Amino acid sequence: MRSVTLDYANMLSPNLGGRGLDPLELEGGLAEAFRRAYDDVESRRRSGEMGFFSLPDARESARAVQELADGFGQWFENLVVLGIGGSALGTITLRDSLLGPYWNESDDEARDHYPRLYILDNVDPRTVSSLLDRLDLRRTLFNVVSKSGSTAETMSQYMVVEDRLHEILGEEPTRGHFLFTTDPESGILRKIADEEGVPTLAVPSNVGGRFSVLSAVGLLPAAVVGIDIMEVLDGARDMAQRCQASVLKENPAGLLATLLHQADTVQGAPIHVLMSYSDRLRSFAAWYQQLWAESLGKARDREGREVNRGPTPVPAVGATDQHSLLQLLMEGPRDKVVLFLGAGGAEDPVEIPAIRQDFSALSYLGGHTLSELLDTEREATMEALRQQGRPNLSLEVDDLTPRALGELFMLFQIATVFAGALYGVDPLDQPGVELSKKLTYGLLGREGYERPQLGIGDHDWRV
Ligand code: PA5
Repeated sequence: MRSVTLDYANMLSPNLGGRGLDPLELEGGLAEAFRRAYDDVESRRRSGEMGFFSLPDARESARAVQELADGFGQWFENLVVLGIGGSALGTITLRDSLLGPYWNESDDEARDHYPRLYILDNVDPRTVSSLLDRLDLRRTLFNVVSKSGSTAETMSQYMVVEDRLHEILGEEPTRGHFLFTTDPESGILRKIADEEGVPTLAVPSNVGGRFSVLSAVGLLPAAVVGIDIMEVLDGARDMAQRCQASVLKENPAGLLATLLHQADTVQGAPIHVLMSYSDRLRSFAAWYQQLWAESLGKARDREGREVNRGPTPVPAVGATDQHSLLQLLMEGPRDKVVLFLGAGGAEDPVEIPAIRQDFSALSYLGGHTLSELLDTEREATMEALRQQGRPNLSLEVDDLTPRALGELFMLFQIATVFAGALYGVDPLDQPGVELSKKLTYGLLGREGYERPQLGIGDHDWRV
């Protein structure tokens, strides 16, 4: 069963007035390049480096997650995830895509008595305090999610929360309010958990942050709020199977990776806009942004040669951004590809009433639904770009169910590792984020780190 379809006609030269890709290349040079990338990914997968491929089959761990969610997770009114980057964005996506926009504002009955779910993925003091001030902390579970167990932002949030809990609970231990999701063996969270008996879930060692949504990182919070996590995994497994095809034209992740890589490196279009025509998928676009940027933006290739490569992902939402980005997409530099994402299955399509019939500028709307308007605007925008010779792709999701979201997660994760192989970079590391971390440590006085000098010292270049 498949819920996600990729349409790439608008990347091909016959549809773009001669611009774009010659379709024959998909059976020639590009098919061969993909085959090499495919073999490379296969060998890394088999050697155990790419653990995310196995997550849909890790059903025993998923059942353990479900049990914890059904028991411990339901003692609380609120679940707050403390995490950042790959430890947060997938969970935000699961919540927003599958529970709709106002879950946390809904009353107990509308939420089927499942807890509210908040994700703190920053250390902005206003956000942190406002949330902690408004929740009843006695009835709140904090899921601290950090693969490394040492990320400054997450650990600072943890310490702030623990201190607040001490104030409220007095002598009572705080461990009953925490659940750690972290590396199975290493890191400070693991140590604290072992010493103090805090319940934990493991992120497999061979699964990196931005590839971890289908591990306990995303599954635990999802299960606590009643999302069918087995369905999510089923969808991911189906997609992984579709992406087993070694023939380019049969492999959706291969096509996505190949077309976007080709657009960047051959057609001068390194900016990859993901425009979802669904508010529920706004967060998916943010998840994609991290995955694509952190995995593919690299100074060096896998042989260590300096290359400074990588596309620039841009998240957008239709129809809203038709009134913000579209002018640039239509007439600005030809350096962008737009990947449209459409999702069916709105529970209530909302009919536009046939009133105000005396205004011809309004009467054509009456009788249509808001879903029809959104879908029609997506189709019209794709066509408008096509007519301007601007490349675009379309991903259609029949119905935005847990299964379909699982398919989407897996599709993009596999496309990312294929793209890594095509660019010749390692999509699993992120060496570029280390320097700013070290400078932060030095500035905050962490032992073993020298205080750095910032910039060029005293200067007059300020106004
Ligand atoms: O994808 C990644 O590896 C990063 O974005 C991490 O998820 C992020 O830095 C948080 O790391 P950690 O889970 O170790 O706290």
